[in-house]
Amino acid sequence: MEAIGMSTNDLSVYYAEKQAVKRVSLDFRAKQVTALIGPSGCGKSTFLRSLNRMNDLIPDCRITGEIWIRDRNINDKTTDVVSLRQRIGMVWQRPNPFHKSIYENIAFGPRYHGTKNKKKLDEIVEQSLRKAALWEETKDRLHNSALALSGGQQQRLCIARSIAVKPDIILMDEPASALDPVSTSKIEELIAELKQEFCIVIVTHNMHQAARVSDKTAFFLNGEVVEHDVTTNIFTNPQKQETSDYISGRFG
Ligand SMILES: Nc1ncnc2c1ncn2[C@@H]1O[C@H](COP(=O)(O)OP(=O)(O)OP(=O)(O)O)[C@@H](O)[C@H]1O
Ligand SMILES: [Mg+2]
Repeated sequence: MEAIGMSTNDLSVYYAEKQAVKRVSLDFRAKQVTALIGPSGCGKSTFLRSLNRMNDLIPDCRITGEIWIRDRNINDKTTDVVSLRQRIGMVWQRPNPFHKSIYENIAFGPRYHGTKNKKKLDEIVEQSLRKAALWEETKDRLHNSALALSGGQQQRLCIARSIAVKPDIILMDEPASALDPVSTSKIEELIAELKQEFCIVIVTHNMHQAARVSDKTAFFLNGEVVEHDVTTNIFTNPQKQETSDYISGRFG
């Protein structure tokens, strides 16, 4: 299957009167990782959540502009958000597995979207766990509670859960910030694997992590994108003074 990406055009997000994201136009390519960086409160999570319409759940939140995936602007009332979220997965800062078995955490999505066959579900569970580098650790306890896994394992389970429904795009909001260094490097290795298949957008506060895992980086400040470029350019030869100040740790 052809891998696809997505883009935004003039995307603004408001919480009541307050504008949190200001006319952001970015494109995210298939088989690439884009890192979103910037100081706390600059709108990274707000922007990320708008990409799969998670902000719809927040009262008083209003989004203007376009979000394109293939030839469709999904920032549109007629968009079916359930199937949209199947195509655009999300991994949160804190691992949030369901209070169910490892197997059920992964089978839930495909079953919900119509796969009922037990053998097919078994296959999806195994493949998803393998892709999330968790199969070896869990194959003998698939029917045990997901909550008995370590934090790092739970986060890989959440990644397995998001890929089980075969999305095109995976959004990650600081997916390793609650994890220890070993689990963090496992997540980073996993991102490098997954980008061979998916378009990945990751918010991170960790500059080294952004430099290690991403192909492109967008620097956000006060809701605006100050600079968007190939990651090595952002970190070695930024064009804007604000970018240079931020990556050298002068603020944020
Ligand atoms: N649900 C909400 N209701 C009202 N305002 C909000 C809401 N969520 C975020 N904001 C505001 O929008 C702005 C952007 O917040 P956002 O969480 O997107 O920033 P961020 O860049 O992800 O920050 P951090 O790095 O701390 O996670 C902030 O001023 C924040 O207070
Ligand atoms: Mg955030």
